[in-house]
Amino acid sequence: MADSFILLRCATIQQAVDEVSACLQKHPLYYGHGLESPLDEAAYLVSFVAGLPPDFSAQTGRKKVSEDQRSRMQEILEQRVLLRKPLAYLLGRTWLAGQQFFVNEHVLIPRSPIAELIDARLAPWWPSDRDPQWILDVCTGSGCLGILAARQFQQARVDISDNEAAALEVAARNITLHCLEQRVTPYNSDVFHQLPPRQYDIILANPPYVPVCEQPDLPSEYRHEPAQALFAGEDGLEIAEQILLNASEYLSHQGILVMEVGQSALALQQRFQQHNFIWLELERGGEGVCVLTCAECRRIAKQNIS
Ligand SMILES: C[S@@+](CC[C@H](N)C(=O)[O-])C[C@H]1O[C@@H](n2cnc3c(N)ncnc32)[C@H](O)[C@@H]1O
Repeated sequence: MADSFILLRCATIQQAVDEVSACLQKHPLYYGHGLESPLDEAAYLVSFVAGLPPDFSAQTGRKKVSEDQRSRMQEILEQRVLLRKPLAYLLGRTWLAGQQFFVNEHVLIPRSPIAELIDARLAPWWPSDRDPQWILDVCTGSGCLGILAARQFQQARVDISDNEAAALEVAARNITLHCLEQRVTPYNSDVFHQLPPRQYDIILANPPYVPVCEQPDLPSEYRHEPAQALFAGEDGLEIAEQILLNASEYLSHQGILVMEVGQSALALQQRFQQHNFIWLELERGGEGVCVLTCAECRRIAKQNIS
């Protein structure tokens, strides 16, 4: 690239990772869209361009980088630095719980800590000796949580829903990527409104939950994510509240709702003070994930819908 402001000199894959990482560190970038550090981003960028798995071996690290690969790495690196665009959008894909997902700027970049709970088959909240029959991932975006649930619970049928057609197109690509067309069905639905009348054993929800007043304070990287995936009214609870108030109608008797509201957890707890929220501790980080039983959701509906 003739007029490039970043010039990579690396000869090997490992040198490329080190050089890209060092370059990222020199710029005021924000890490938090699935990859948590300059080194992680460098490893994913380089391995993606070189067609390698991100956890390549030391022996692979000694492989030569071609001229084409070096200029592609340089190009992506420049865009990351100049546009402050999250790496996942530049690569068109990302990884959550070890699985790959297509992404574009119509979907939030997958990073929900609910993935950790799905990895653990939602134990102890969902009994280990029972297979859920129906699962719903509401506000699905890329489809990541529903797809992870379908991979984990192989007997279950999974509905995934969003009210953005462009997001559902990405989700459909991911369903195909994971060969789950037989068990995962996308729906265009405003929260629960256009869903089939079903009783789900598990409802997963990562709705938008950032108060709109926080928009100006977010790092530039967030400006590339769709606003409707992030913001939910003045207190951040607009969609979470709808989910809470209506979940019991869509849950089976023994069903559970697992919902992420991040830093809006306090506001949610204050809004529904008299109710029993179980806030989960997460080993891989993240906060504001609660689990509610169908019975608790029913109480919430009864006491809060006039
Ligand atoms: C925070 S993103 C979560 C995406 C995905 N579940 C994840 O964890 O990466 C929230 C999603 O909710 C969708 N959404 C916002 N308002 C909605 C509504 N009223 N009904 C259904 N989906 C909605 C947005 O389009 C966005 O895809």
